[in-house]
Amino acid sequence: MRTHSANTTRIGFLFSGTPLSTRWFIRLRWKLTPYREIAAVLPTAGRVLDLGSGHGLLSLALSMGSDKREIIGIDHDQARVRLAERAAARHASLCKPRFEVGDLEKALATFASGSLSGIAMIDILHYLAPASQAALLHEAARVLEPGGILAVREIDSEGGVAAVWNRFYENVATRIGFTQSARTHLEFRSVTGWTSLLETAGFDVRSEPCGSPIFSDVLFVARRTVQSPK
Ligand SMILES: C[S@@+](CC[C@H](N)C(=O)[O-])C[C@H]1O[C@@H](n2cnc3c(N)ncnc32)[C@H](O)[C@@H]1O
Repeated sequence: MRTHSANTTRIGFLFSGTPLSTRWFIRLRWKLTPYREIAAVLPTAGRVLDLGSGHGLLSLALSMGSDKREIIGIDHDQARVRLAERAAARHASLCKPRFEVGDLEKALATFASGSLSGIAMIDILHYLAPASQAALLHEAARVLEPGGILAVREIDSEGGVAAVWNRFYENVATRIGFTQSARTHLEFRSVTGWTSLLETAGFDVRSEPCGSPIFSDVLFVARRTVQSPK
């Protein structure tokens, strides 16, 4: 998943009126992250949750991909949520994503068992402590319907030079407060480590590189097994 069919002009329009630095960040992120391809691995109908939705780019891509999804984005950064809401209001779509300000762990716990078709966790798990990562994935298995899809993008800590650059960027972004996180110590794992964590939580997992080759990002497509999670 190295290619990207992004329409950056359209994204630029949705965020017009925001400060130039924010607009450039969003355009760059949209160009480097294959949001539409990530959206395509998630169910085309039903309720889909975008946890740690940031500026709402994946949520917007989800609504561009199908008008049968009910999309909910949750992020604790109020300013990003407001920008995402404004972009969604401008986006001509039958299924506009809705956004909430909140903590992703607390928010996920409020959903009923088996009530979601899909969940996205794009570049968020490394902000959590190891035990919280495991708990969040178990919770995701609980709230997904059997066969439901969890899309996780994470850094492969064994991805060589690209992984060093990835980790450097994430650490700087967190420490200067550009990305809000309760913890500044970030937790990365290898592809094997993330896969095993997902399998233990009750998922069948496949993975593939996801994004620019200058980074070591991997997309894990995790299908909730039909048996109840352990
Ligand atoms: C690297 S950004 C990714 C944003 C989005 N997933 C994307 O790919 O465009 C990480 C986001 O996670 C959010 N975040 C981190 N910890 C969170 C938490 N505990 N609860 C809610 N949001 C959180 C940050 O505010 C930030 O917007």
